[in-house]
Amino acid sequence: ELIDWSVEDGKKGGFAHYMLKEIFEQPQVFYNTIRGINDAPLPDCNRLRDPVTVVACGTSYHAGLIFKYLLEECCQIPARLDYASEFRYYPPPASGLVIGITQSGETADTLMALRLAKAHNCHTLAITNVLGSTVTRLADTTLYMRAGPEISVAATKSFIAQLAVLMQIVNRFRGNSQTETLLEAHKAIEDALLMDFSETVGLCENAQSIFYVGRGPFYPVSLEGALKMKEISYIHAEGYAAGEIKHGPFALLSEKTPVIAICMPGETYDVMISNIKEMKARGSPVIGIGRSGDTDLPEICDLFIPLNVATLFTQILTATVVLQLIAYHTAEKLGRDIDRPRNLAKSVTVE
Ligand code: G6P
Repeated sequence: ELIDWSVEDGKKGGFAHYMLKEIFEQPQVFYNTIRGINDAPLPDCNRLRDPVTVVACGTSYHAGLIFKYLLEECCQIPARLDYASEFRYYPPPASGLVIGITQSGETADTLMALRLAKAHNCHTLAITNVLGSTVTRLADTTLYMRAGPEISVAATKSFIAQLAVLMQIVNRFRGNSQTETLLEAHKAIEDALLMDFSETVGLCENAQSIFYVGRGPFYPVSLEGALKMKEISYIHAEGYAAGEIKHGPFALLSEKTPVIAICMPGETYDVMISNIKEMKARGSPVIGIGRSGDTDLPEICDLFIPLNVATLFTQILTATVVLQLIAYHTAEKLGRDIDRPRNLAKSVTVE
């Protein structure tokens, strides 16, 4: 009578779902991961001078896509990225470094790709969250993400931890001091947790389909936002490079297909603004995510989500958290089984 919650509820720490708890752990996870990586020397950095290939699945693949962008853009290091399940159908890298990103350390396709890479004399580096997982026994070197146990099937805090590790590798490699980035990102993620997304949920909950668009590093952020939405709300959602929308998806745009557009200051800004206008002209309600103080987005978008973000890393991290929360609150409104979505598994141990 006195206690009306279960042990399971207790483990959720007062949150309705593990997913929400894990989303709220992200500022701390980000901090822990950065600190852990700072303490762990990154001996493999030198190996980035060799050809770099990244293999991963699902959300981890999206982290890989962001890493590829940052390596090429910030460090001028070209990188190849494969879905782990596709790696074996292409000619293997002749040598160099193969990085496997896997939260669980147990994804069959990622393990298989790393085994193949080893067989071709590549050096293998695993980035994982689980101590003692299979990947740690397989790879030559392991970096841990320190996100803590992730219970919800949809990956959230492990993605932020992956980005923290990968951004730290990029920082280390380009030799910049990352202190400012770290503090700003930490604060911006915290601020995002306090935002109210009810109007956005109102536009999304009855959608036939939702398009997520961005350019450059915000394209993979869009992919991840759409993945979260489909995993837990069961609404069809697609992440798209904003410039590709006119090559097909234009035919689908209507008032029933909202668009979530990430539009940050920088070289993609102007062209994103014109993409948003094109999509609006075809009837889609547009939710713009941009930097606070932006004066164009509130004018042209149906809803504007302003973020207090200055640096690129912070923009990527904070936009990600916003999209996690939009997916979460939409799924919650629809009464979905958020922590255990139908047909999905936390870790896929078959090919
Ligand atoms: C499953 C999970 C996803 C995850 C993917 C890769 O599909 O449901 O959330 O992103 O596997 O998992 P990994 O453990 O290799 O990162």
